[in-house]
Amino acid sequence: MKDHLIVFDTTLRDGEQSPGAAMTKEEKIRVARQLEKLRVDVIEAGFPASSPGDFEAVRAIAGMIKDSTVCALTRTSDLDVQKAGEAIRPAARGRIHVFIAASPIHMEMKLRMRPEEVLEAAVRAVSLAKQYTDDVEFSPEDAGRSEFDFLCRISEAVIKAGATTVNIPDTVGYNLPEVWGALFRRLRETVPNADKAVWSTHCHNDLGLAVANSLAAVAHGARQVECTINGIGERAGNASLEEIVMAIRTRADLMPVETRIDIAHIVPTSKLVSQITGYPVQPNKAIVGANAFAHESGIHQDGVLKHRETYEIMLAQDVGWHNNRLTLGKLSGRNAFKTRLIELGIVMPSEEALNAAFIRFKELADKKRDIYDEDLQAIVGDDAQGPAPEYYKLVSMTVHSETGETPQARITVSTDGRERKAEAVGSGPVDASFKAIERIVESGSELLLYSVNAITTGTDAQGEVTVRLGKDGRVVNGQGADTDIIVASAKAYLNAVNKLAHGPTRVNPQYDTV
Ligand code: KIV
Ligand code: ZN
Repeated sequence: MKDHLIVFDTTLRDGEQSPGAAMTKEEKIRVARQLEKLRVDVIEAGFPASSPGDFEAVRAIAGMIKDSTVCALTRTSDLDVQKAGEAIRPAARGRIHVFIAASPIHMEMKLRMRPEEVLEAAVRAVSLAKQYTDDVEFSPEDAGRSEFDFLCRISEAVIKAGATTVNIPDTVGYNLPEVWGALFRRLRETVPNADKAVWSTHCHNDLGLAVANSLAAVAHGARQVECTINGIGERAGNASLEEIVMAIRTRADLMPVETRIDIAHIVPTSKLVSQITGYPVQPNKAIVGANAFAHESGIHQDGVLKHRETYEIMLAQDVGWHNNRLTLGKLSGRNAFKTRLIELGIVMPSEEALNAAFIRFKELADKKRDIYDEDLQAIVGDDAQGPAPEYYKLVSMTVHSETGETPQARITVSTDGRERKAEAVGSGPVDASFKAIERIVESGSELLLYSVNAITTGTDAQGEVTVRLGKDGRVVNGQGADTDIIVASAKAYLNAVNKLAHGPTRVNPQYDTV
């Protein structure tokens, strides 16, 4: 019998700390639902004291997730712990995660506290958290650069105060696998009450070692891994969930643990997080990159055709690549479409939203032969949580682009039942389109990110565009999908403008208040 490894997903908290990746409450709920389908054990939903928006998001997620524990992060102040406790109150299973820095550099330069004061604050916060839930986790931040004796003392004290999980973060991604593994072994051997808590590892990827370090910790007794989808997170990111889970499964011969992750949901979850955050997945990213299962060289192709396992250690279909071809086509009816959405776990908020999505499906089926579940997710987009208000709607566009000529765009947008037209030139067709749209909508926003992704393979694939706009400290991501990427770009720009003007506000990055 292998031990169970608790998979603690922090995409909605640490992952959201990636620059510009902050999500709205609705977006967080969508990701949380998908994480529950993926069967992660714990969803760290946010940091309730960081902003009212994050408090609301954690509370909403706590109220709807049944199969995963919902966790809220908190600093050690009473008020923060109380907010975390309130936010997880509706949860079927709720956890509070208390953290305070424990390295000399953080205690002295950031907190300006003595180690004894830090230890006291940790114990006090854990004891207070216990009044809200039995499931309390403690993290000595920057443990990767902390003194071993102090780590032992603080771990022993918080376990005595009721912490059921002690998470050891390599906050700045400084450690190497051997050192990290040895730290877990020593902690478990030295802390007198070590057996009363689950030891957890939380690794950042500054040296590209987050997954290797996490696996080393598991080999030396860690029974919880903290990770994010696509490895997103501060700076170089966190350990990637999909890589850890697939390493444990693929090398089961060497691993002392197993997870309960439903790996068929790995790729759809990766795509959803990428779509919502606007962070594209690099093509050569393990497991979820577009090329992760592609074979380019003739020798490899020949080998795979003769015997797949010559060059493949995992099955693409197992992790959710293209095993979901939609059997609907041009002639499929609304009921079949609705049934497939339900099978995919997509709940449309109203008949109106369903009808709008169905019309988009029909339009796409006219242009594209094979439609995949990823296409459906893109068609449905934000409408799954209630449509973003469409104050500005693309009516038509013409773009002229020719070698040696200045690209030009002519756009018609409807607003309040009135059609408005504008034209502009630009350095390329997308630039010209955005300038023409700006002449109509006058958002005055700054373009922070523009990214294009092919949703599926083939030249008839839909391009999915993310446009990130910022104005007066607010940041929004707009998405648009179409088989014509210039049209997808215009749709994404308008989607972002609509959100900026009237849509939900993005939750502030948590560390604003730390
Ligand atoms: O990296 C870190 O130290 C953290 C803690 C809050 C656990 O994210
Ligand atoms: Zn972290």
